[in-house]
Amino acid sequence: MQIVKYQFQQHGDERGQLVALEEFNDIPFKIKRVYYMYDTGEGVTRGYHAHKSLEQILICIHGSCKVLLDNGKEKKKVFLEKPYEGLYVPNNMWREMYDFSPDAVLMCLASEVYNEEDYIRDYEEFLKFINRK
Ligand code: TYD
Repeated sequence: MQIVKYQFQQHGDERGQLVALEEFNDIPFKIKRVYYMYDTGEGVTRGYHAHKSLEQILICIHGSCKVLLDNGKEKKKVFLEKPYEGLYVPNNMWREMYDFSPDAVLMCLASEVYNEEDYIRDYEEFLKFINRK
């Protein structure tokens, strides 16, 4: 399984850093939704789902966290700690986010608006779904 981590351009000067993200330019899809997680409790794991068609980019814009990606055949763990790095999560990929630092802010850029129909929240169902393809 190939992990796709984008390194966004940093516009840094003596004042500090700035990152700008444009759809189809820095991000490979139209951004229809942005959401972010913060104040995540110690020991908490989030996610535990896959999407049938949604794609996303995960950016830990503050602090750090880990992401487990699982395509049903292979699992990979990715550490996110840079505000200028974006992890691409394609559709049909099981994800779990964990080991959030207390100050972590995990931002997600998503290709679709929120739609519960697009979620697969049961792991066995996920395996069946990808094996049908
Ligand atoms: P949830 O799907 O449980 O988050 P995760 O799987 O990433 O841990 O979402 C938590 C709550 O927020 C749930 O009640 C649904 C709601 N929610 C929205 O209303 N819009 C959204 O875009 C997202 C991601 C969640």
